[in-house]
Amino acid sequence: MSPFTPRVTATVDLAAIRHNLARVRAYAPRSRVMAAIKADAYGHGAVPVARALQQAGTDAFAVACLEEALILREAGLDTPVVLLEGVLSLQEAAEAARSRLQIVVHDFWQLDLLRQLPHEQPLSLWFKLDTGMHRLGFPPAAAPGLAAVVQERPAWSLVGWITHLACADELDSPLTAQQLVRFEQALQGLPGPRSAANSAGLMAWPRARLDWVRPGLMLYGASPLAGKTGAECGLQPAMQVESRLIAIHELEAGEAVGYGATFRCPERMRVGVVAVGYADGVHRILPTGAPVLIHGRRATIVGRVSMDMISVDLRGVPMAEVGDPVVLWGAGLPAEEIAGWAGTLAYELFCGLTNRVHFVHKNP
Ligand SMILES: Cc1ncc(COP(=O)(O)O)c(C=O)c1O
Repeated sequence: MSPFTPRVTATVDLAAIRHNLARVRAYAPRSRVMAAIKADAYGHGAVPVARALQQAGTDAFAVACLEEALILREAGLDTPVVLLEGVLSLQEAAEAARSRLQIVVHDFWQLDLLRQLPHEQPLSLWFKLDTGMHRLGFPPAAAPGLAAVVQERPAWSLVGWITHLACADELDSPLTAQQLVRFEQALQGLPGPRSAANSAGLMAWPRARLDWVRPGLMLYGASPLAGKTGAECGLQPAMQVESRLIAIHELEAGEAVGYGATFRCPERMRVGVVAVGYADGVHRILPTGAPVLIHGRRATIVGRVSMDMISVDLRGVPMAEVGDPVVLWGAGLPAEEIAGWAGTLAYELFCGLTNRVHFVHKNP
């Protein structure tokens, strides 16, 4: 038994993640699903999340790098794993081949690396085309040449073609349609499955669904579309982050709270201190007024977020006592809303939790 009482707990509901996978299938019933579980499953815990998704029949996993892929292999997961950024060195290429990983190739230098492996070394490759995002990918005109490269190496197989959408979450952007046309035209007459859609792409752009979809954010129950919460899209938020009240003060009107004394009590009031701060992943930029939940009621942060603590206005929660749980985001308080207060996205909140947070995975 651990002698520690967790200050901050992130509870991840794996049943919610399976539900969200079912939502992906409902949106794109004819597409195979490559679940984006890079960045430790967007901060949710790669291995437990991958186990839940494998059990629910995910067709493949997408990770950013070899290190993330090997964590899955070492945990005994045998679903295909795709390296979204491919390999960085000859050693990585050899290890990726040994671990039967699928490698995305986005540039000619990577192709040169792979050519240095023994001729008979089997490799499963995705080619990435840059159709307008201008981050990673070959120019579309390179596609026929890439298809020919695979023909020349009998041990190599083409798993498919990938492109990434820059503005799929902007429903009025013309870029998504342009990217899809460029992708289709570049691949005309060439063999191999196609994949373009992230969460926003598969939810908002039916023509983007193609042979494979690559959802990330929506699997965790957050909405990729501005102005909509996950719940409004039929998704279940998978993560709830909670801390606890460790002190309550009755302060006089005019007294200040926290570093910089940026908040002054407008009247005599109760102020609670919560054991969570930016060293746990609560963004320091969250201003006075950003909400938390105590006893199901909204209270607000007052003063600056410090490394290990925040202070909250308890005027709306008269029953609050030391030891009571405080929800930072989760049921009743969408991560998307908190992200909005911090001027960022739910992606960054999820990925920003630090190793000081205690994780619990329920409904495995
Ligand atoms: C290439 C690629 N595909 C799919 C995804 C999943 O995106 P989302 O989390 O928006 O669904 C990402 C995430 O950034 C990505 O980089």
